Amino acid sequence: MISKEIIEEIKRRNDIEDVISQYVALKRAGSNANGLCPFHSEKTPSFTVFKGTDSFYCFGCGAGGDVITFIMKVENLDYVGALEFLAKRAGITIPTDGYEAETGMRRTRVLEMNREAAKFFHSQLKNDKIALGYLSRRGLSGSVIKHFGLGFAPPGFGALTDHMHKLGYSDEELQTGFLAGKSQKTGRAYDYFRNRVIFPIINTAGEVIAFGGRVMDDSKPKYLNTSDTPAFKKSRNLFALNYAKNYCSEQMILCEGYMDVIALHAAGFQNAVATLGTALTPDQARLMKKYTKTVLISYDSDEAGQRAANKAFTLLGEAGLETRILRMNGAKDPDEYIQKFGKLAFQKVIDSSYTQFDYKFESILKKHDPETAEGRIKASDEAAEEISRVYSSVERDIYIKKASERLSISPDSLKRDVENKISRRKRSNAKEEKQKLIQSAQGYGDRVNPDKIKNLKAAAAEEVILGILLKYPEYSVRIRKGSFELQSENFVSEFSRRVFNAVMAAGDDFELGMLNSDFSEAEMARIIKMQIAREGLSNTDGVFSDSIAALKQAAKKADMSLEDIIKAKRSKQ
Ligand code: GTP
Ligand code: MN
Repeated sequence: MISKEIIEEIKRRNDIEDVISQYVALKRAGSNANGLCPFHSEKTPSFTVFKGTDSFYCFGCGAGGDVITFIMKVENLDYVGALEFLAKRAGITIPTDGYEAETGMRRTRVLEMNREAAKFFHSQLKNDKIALGYLSRRGLSGSVIKHFGLGFAPPGFGALTDHMHKLGYSDEELQTGFLAGKSQKTGRAYDYFRNRVIFPIINTAGEVIAFGGRVMDDSKPKYLNTSDTPAFKKSRNLFALNYAKNYCSEQMILCEGYMDVIALHAAGFQNAVATLGTALTPDQARLMKKYTKTVLISYDSDEAGQRAANKAFTLLGEAGLETRILRMNGAKDPDEYIQKFGKLAFQKVIDSSYTQFDYKFESILKKHDPETAEGRIKASDEAAEEISRVYSSVERDIYIKKASERLSISPDSLKRDVENKISRRKRSNAKEEKQKLIQSAQGYGDRVNPDKIKNLKAAAAEEVILGILLKYPEYSVRIRKGSFELQSENFVSEFSRRVFNAVMAAGDDFELGMLNSDFSEAEMARIIKMQIAREGLSNTDGVFSDSIAALKQAAKKADMSLEDIIKAKRSKQ
């Protein structure tokens, strides 16, 4: 654990406004500052930095937290990583070097261990004719193997484990780092990767954070990947970004597989990256946004790949990235395409890449025959629908021209259709927004505090109590001394109780930043929201004791289960 004094020191030396203004153009607004939210795309600023509480909150997307949360989100780091980042920024050394609370293993220790393992795997490859033969059959030259630090995990259960023992790593450490499994019988460590070629995963700081291992025949599973460790979060990293980051200021190519990326880099497309065996995540999309403007999705050409590509489109768009899709005919993935047709052909695929609209328009034309009147009407209606979802009006005009030419219809009438659809959607969005607001005020679908709906009055009182406690932690001392009668059992919702316990446990030592390790980002945002709701309020003592009374009163009401509430609502309708 990193001590509270260090966390405080880190926060004191990293003024939240200074830190955030390196990412967001902030404008003063009284004692607070506003800007465009870096976590969702918006045109009017709803992102606020609160000087009084050293916190931020976005009224648009609900992101919020302190300076540590901000760095976790914007730099894609975990809690300890964010502390290390801020410590470095302020020139502070963290003495304990960031033990991960859960596993008791330091991130830096995992990284050292991974580096040793990568060296071992790489040296094993030189001696293994079968593995070398496999890689060479897949078109990888010696220099490519070296560039990516590829390796080989020998068959048998102890090759790596024995080697690492000699270097002083324990069974537990190897297991925590997912380099070893745990024997059911003896609890001893045994090699996790066996008889596989190894792809080390290296982050932008050049650290070996994880491995992927592929079989050399048809056995299953085809790939094994490191699960999350103190040094690695799958959903926040991309394969080969360590190289791609230097070649992608304009465009980045996103693939599904390690082999695709390696083939692309070898062919000179060094701006290629891949997800790590999972669907693209919002964190990864934001990570890409840090390095590039346009993402070319180059997924497998089978149906599953195309479905995944469609999902990635949406996510990347939401992260504010321009997105295009690459279509390859005659090959199942980019690796196979390059082996078959060469790099010039792949460059042509890039040059004729599809915008999302092109891509959708083509499938519309497949569904409705533009040679018949009926087909043209349907196709133009669906095209108008797609175009109406395009954000930029310049882009919309280009597509209107394209579609109207292709369908031989008047661009003006297509444009009118598009505009009608836009204004209709605006109206219904406004309605939906209002409905959502009403529902969320009633506590429906509150994912952070799902208990809210069971007792709205109690939940409201809890939020006031916690807001005051978070803003003025000295109240926890006064509670302990008996000035207020409030205990964890008084809380009706689980989430509120957890927050209460965390604040009480810390007592006078409470520091908002401590919560980042135990609460999710969404929960942090809610915590900040409760805290800033207390901004500028007076008569805190009075409000505090009134709210305790209100909570106790509301809690007396027989607990209604969610089912009961729904039943009661139905019978009223
Ligand atoms: P090759 O067959 O070697 O060309 O593989 P590929 O790189 O083309 O991968 P593929 O398209 O089959 O899968 C894409 C990615 O999904 C891989 O790079 C892996 O990260 C992941 N993946 C594939 N198969 C498995 C599996 O069996 N288990 C896990 N955990 N991940 C897999
Ligand atoms: Mn492949």
